[in-house]
Amino acid sequence: MQIHSTIAGLRAALADARLKAARIAFAPTMGNLHDGHIALMRQARKHADVVVASIFVNRLQFGPREDFDKYPRTFENDCARLAEAGVDHLFAPDEQEMYPTPQRYQVDPDPAHTDILDGASRPGHFRGVATVVLKLFNIVQPQVALFGKKDYQQVMVLRNMTRELALPIEIIAGETTRADDGLALSSRNGYLSAAERAEAPRLHRQLVWIRERIAAGERNFLLLETEAVAELAAHGWQPDYLTIRRRSNLQPPAGDEPLVVLGAAKLGNTRLIDNLEIE
Ligand code: PAF
Repeated sequence: MQIHSTIAGLRAALADARLKAARIAFAPTMGNLHDGHIALMRQARKHADVVVASIFVNRLQFGPREDFDKYPRTFENDCARLAEAGVDHLFAPDEQEMYPTPQRYQVDPDPAHTDILDGASRPGHFRGVATVVLKLFNIVQPQVALFGKKDYQQVMVLRNMTRELALPIEIIAGETTRADDGLALSSRNGYLSAAERAEAPRLHRQLVWIRERIAAGERNFLLLETEAVAELAAHGWQPDYLTIRRRSNLQPPAGDEPLVVLGAAKLGNTRLIDNLEIE
C-alpha cells in the first residue's frame, strides 16, 4: 500500500490508473479503524481495480464541545489493517494540506435533511461532512465511493449531494458490522466502560423489537417509539431519538415508502447511534 500525505502525491500516483481507465473505489475514514471499516475496504475491492482509502479527522464536522481533540488517532495500526485488507493507496493529509486557508467555500446541504435527527443535536455537522467529502471526491476522483450504513443520515446527505451536484460517482452503502451481541461497531465504542459496554447492545435490541412489532402488523409507530425510549431511559440511557422514518429522506412515514428505524442515545458520556431497515 502506498501512503500519500499530499494531494499532488496522490494525484501523481493515480495518474497511471486513470490513463488505463482503471475503476477507482474510494472509502473515506477518520481512522481508528474497526472491522466495519475493513469490511467496507474488502467490498470496495469488488467494485474497482484500484482501492483508495483516506484517514483525516475532519475538524469541520465537530462542534465546539465535541471530541475532536480526544478522537482516537491510531495511524500505525490503521495502516497495517488497510494494507492487509488490500487497499492500494492511503491518502492521509494533515490539516495544513486539506485546509491551508480557512475553508470558506462549503457545501450547504438541504436543511430538511440536516436539521433533523443527528443534525438537530450537532449543528453544522453535515455541512462539515459534505464539505470534506466533496473535497476528497475532487482529490481522488473515484467512480465508486463507499460509506457505512451505520451513519444512515450521512449516507442520505451524501447521496443527495452527489445527485444534486451531478458528481459522476456511484455511492454504495455497506451493511453495519456488529459485535456478537448486536452492538454496531463504532470508533466511539472504545469510550465505553466495561459496565457500559455490557449495557450498550440494548439500543440494537430496541431497534430489533420495533422491527419485529412492525413485521407482526403494529402500525402505531408513536407507541413503539415511546415504549422503546422508555425502556432505554429505564436502564440509565439518555435517549436523543428513536424514530421510524422513510429511508429515502428520513422524513416521517408516508404511503408505502420503505422504512428504517433509527436510534441515538447517550450511555454515560458516550453517544451511540444505530439503525435497522424495516423489511
Ligand atoms: O464517517 C466518517 O468517518 C466521516 O464522517 C467521513 C465520511 C470520513 C468524513 O469525514
